[in-house]
Amino acid sequence: MRTWPSDGVALGADYNPEQWPEQVWEQDVALMREAGVNFATVGVFSWALLEPAAGRYEFAWLDRVLDLLHAGGIAVDLATATASPPPWFSAAYPQTLPVDQNGATRWYGSRQSWCPSSPVFTEHATALTEQLARRYHDHPALALWHVSNEYGCHNVLCYCDTCAAGFREWLGKRYGDLDAVNHAWGTAFWSQRYTDIEQVLPPRASTTTPNPTQVLDYRRCTSDALLAQYQAELAVLRVHSPGVPVTTNFMTMDGFRHLDYPSWVPSVDVVSTDHYVTGSLADPEAELAFAADLTRGLAAGAPWMLMEHSSSAVNWQPVNRAKLPGQLLRHSLTHVARGADTLGFFQWRQSRSGAEKFHSALLPHAGTDTKIWRDVLALGAAAAALGEVVGSRVQAEVALLWDYQSGWALNAPSHPSTDLEYGEMAHDLHAALRRAGVTVDILGPHDDLSGYRLILVPTLYLTDAATTAAVVAAADAGAHVLVTYFSGVVDEHDHLLPGGWSPLLGALLGVRTEEHHPLFAGQRVGLDGVLAGSVGTRWSEVLHVADGTQVLSGYADGDLAGQPAVTRRSVGAGAAWYLATRVDAAGLDILLSRVCADAGVEPVAAVAPGVEVVRRRAEGASWLFVINHSDTEAVLDRAGHELLTDRDVRTLTVPAGGVAVLRED
Ligand code: GLA
Repeated sequence: MRTWPSDGVALGADYNPEQWPEQVWEQDVALMREAGVNFATVGVFSWALLEPAAGRYEFAWLDRVLDLLHAGGIAVDLATATASPPPWFSAAYPQTLPVDQNGATRWYGSRQSWCPSSPVFTEHATALTEQLARRYHDHPALALWHVSNEYGCHNVLCYCDTCAAGFREWLGKRYGDLDAVNHAWGTAFWSQRYTDIEQVLPPRASTTTPNPTQVLDYRRCTSDALLAQYQAELAVLRVHSPGVPVTTNFMTMDGFRHLDYPSWVPSVDVVSTDHYVTGSLADPEAELAFAADLTRGLAAGAPWMLMEHSSSAVNWQPVNRAKLPGQLLRHSLTHVARGADTLGFFQWRQSRSGAEKFHSALLPHAGTDTKIWRDVLALGAAAAALGEVVGSRVQAEVALLWDYQSGWALNAPSHPSTDLEYGEMAHDLHAALRRAGVTVDILGPHDDLSGYRLILVPTLYLTDAATTAAVVAAADAGAHVLVTYFSGVVDEHDHLLPGGWSPLLGALLGVRTEEHHPLFAGQRVGLDGVLAGSVGTRWSEVLHVADGTQVLSGYADGDLAGQPAVTRRSVGAGAAWYLATRVDAAGLDILLSRVCADAGVEPVAAVAPGVEVVRRRAEGASWLFVINHSDTEAVLDRAGHELLTDRDVRTLTVPAGGVAVLRED
């Protein structure tokens, strides 16, 4: 077994040689070597070729691929090939096809057409995994197992009878008996009381708003069902390929919240994720930084793998923009700055047919005399130059709480506003701190908060007792806590808490919300006090402050003119801050600079707008990553050895659009 490439930041891609005649494979390996590619993810969509008929396995072609890669010094991240079953399988076992909310089958002909709860799928997937593990466990190219691919990307919610039975079993395990289910789901409402577990269904299409806790539990159940599919393959790999690390690629990018990743993390040997820059966002690079910090949080600070990103355009957005000069290096190194030690791509060679032929690749359809190929060569050189940062860690003084389950609950229907989107405030706060050069760890709701100077709780609608207690304990221990509107409203069953809106966090904050006043899309309210000149959107509320709670800003106009919008209450050595509206970016910058100053949170470096800074540290060494997204040169008063240009500097100058990695003196 090979160890993971360790002489630099690993660089590689999904490699789909089955799409090409064998003569091309040798050229592939030669070009991989030229580019500095040192790993390939092989077999992700190879089930149809590896098992062309039930129980008939054909591995000879894969033997040749692995041998060739090994001869070229390229490590293999070998997929279990179970992401997409072949047509013969789906045709023979139509009960494995997912079913939508209306009972319509989602047919094969695309990919990932399998039901998350299907035992038939498990049986065939684990059989293939076993064959692969038995054959390749000691192949010298093998460095990592890649189970399935992006679990839940297309098949996350299936409503078939198998899933219904699985849901009942899951409820039995979670709640013990039907009374507890009835209580958790609040079925006293709308005559929904169940008298027999067999009556319980997934939240299939109904007349109007479904039971929100049923919907929430179904999401939890589906995440667990897919995790069980992963674990079934993992168990096979542990038996037949012991000692070889195993991962599956998560999707921590914006808009993908299918799975409750914190519950998956204990089952992977290394956290890996995929990320694609979304052109529709106002600030795609801020989202990229958020996703990277979220992935590092899942990895508990350990180095993680970027399994996929793109060399240029993707094919699945409404308009697919090519990357501009310099963007590839900036995007890739943002991931490294924020803790990735592996840079993977989809895919090595651009396909000539199929649904993704317009998706960029490391080796583009237009060949090697291209911007993409030159960028890839430059990235290969950069990855090799960064060897010494591998294994180092990012440290942060600020924690931001992120909870998939809270997001599912918030984005359910029948809330004060359909415009409340989970993640909006989290992204706003993270982006503001990124502008200020402050690094943030994005943590799950049950992660350890000790040691952080500032804890951000952005619109965490569902907040269980343990999370609330941890936030309160951190504040009592001297941390500053900043909570934004509509947090701590419901418990884990999506039930309102006794004692008014947000009673537990409200007690910490020294505020009491009397009534919610969400704002219409486009509606703006002026703010005064420390946020004079800024506006709030999305949300406002009638807020009462307790004695000793300071009002920092109120509404200057609108229905709530004169009432509080931003408050601060001293708690021991720290403080609890509350933001009751979505303040604009300029206002958020002002507020956070005040909060950070109070909390003693320092930026990594003082930087001009558009310049991103992150520091990685190891025993006795630190590296400052400077990513200049702006169109002006950035100059930092820092000395050290710049790794990408391999020279000593007294002052670090980073050209417009450029990147620098400084081993600091
Ligand atoms: C995902 C998948 C890949 C490919 C890319 C395209 O990340 O894992 O197979 O479809 O998207 O962006």
